[in-house]
Amino acid sequence: MSKIDNIDSFVRPNIRDLKPYRSARDDFDKGLLLDANENSLGSPVRNQLNLHRYPTPAHDELRQKIAGYRHVLRENVFIGVGSDEAIDLLIRIFCEPGKDSILITPPTYGMYKVSAGINNVSVVESNLTADFQLDVTDILNKASEHTKILFLCSPNNPTANDLKRTDLLKLVELFPGIIVVDEAYIDFSGQESMAEVVPQYQNLVVLQTFSKAFGLAGIRLGTAISSPAIIRYLMKVKAPYNVNKLTADIALKAFDHLDLVEFNIDKIREERDYIMEQLHYAPDVEKVYPSDANFILFRIKDALRVYHQLAEKGIIVRYRGNEPGCENCLRVTVGIPDENIRFLKTLKEIIS
Ligand SMILES: Cc1ncc(COP(=O)(O)O)c(C=O)c1O
Repeated sequence: MSKIDNIDSFVRPNIRDLKPYRSARDDFDKGLLLDANENSLGSPVRNQLNLHRYPTPAHDELRQKIAGYRHVLRENVFIGVGSDEAIDLLIRIFCEPGKDSILITPPTYGMYKVSAGINNVSVVESNLTADFQLDVTDILNKASEHTKILFLCSPNNPTANDLKRTDLLKLVELFPGIIVVDEAYIDFSGQESMAEVVPQYQNLVVLQTFSKAFGLAGIRLGTAISSPAIIRYLMKVKAPYNVNKLTADIALKAFDHLDLVEFNIDKIREERDYIMEQLHYAPDVEKVYPSDANFILFRIKDALRVYHQLAEKGIIVRYRGNEPGCENCLRVTVGIPDENIRFLKTLKEIIS
């Protein structure tokens, strides 16, 4: 059981009472379509997708496909313009600007704080422990009646590790609000997705994305998996045609190539392990953190200087040294084998 049994009473009153925009396409998608002020003569670019017509507002076919893949029902699936859209919408649904807050666990993904800032929602922080795990007691102590959403990220960006599943489950039960588990990198991890417990908890939202394991960052497609009550609110507040036809078409096609998705995940994990091993032996590298994702966090002497020197040689990594617990840390994404070798070779040249 979660601490919230009625999602409706937890939602901002203006959102609960909102009459959503309805297009005629919510009710009809066949016939002589003269309802939406489209250009009936067609698009100037030849295509099979009827791009002169708006996309379906609900994308039932794609949501069904995702639901089957993640072992939930279509009613549990929302799709948006990246998972970044879902982060923003969740804050808008549950947090009263100027009054409510979200709780985050730094070091973590930056968009939770940015979206809160855009919405004039304040941010409460509970830093991860030295081994980048949750301090469950501190989180619960910091939660107040105004702390509406807890954002957790597992595997976590930028630290790359899974958060302990027992802690996630404890918080789903004990946190007195909405708990979002951002699983952008879950397919690189050995840990089970929290999506499987969504049917048991009304207040749990699991975020996933096509940007990482599916290799489709360019189509901007993200998923929120949650209780039908929360999914209905996400559908209510989203822009009417948020996911476009080109995106939906490519995403559906990706499901015909799941073997390649799996193959690439395995390859990335293999390369990740190779880079980690090489970094262990590199001079000046003081620590290589465990990774359950497609990137690696490591601590190196004089990280900021190394970061700039890598950039001068055309190798762009991320300096994370300003994040709590990440002093002198760089984050590097796993590339293709040649790129990884070039990165390692250049790094060794810089520090030797
Ligand atoms: C933890 C995490 N969540 C979400 C995102 C954004 O995903 P999307 O591309 O689906 O907006 C990222 C992108 O780097 C991320 O690291």
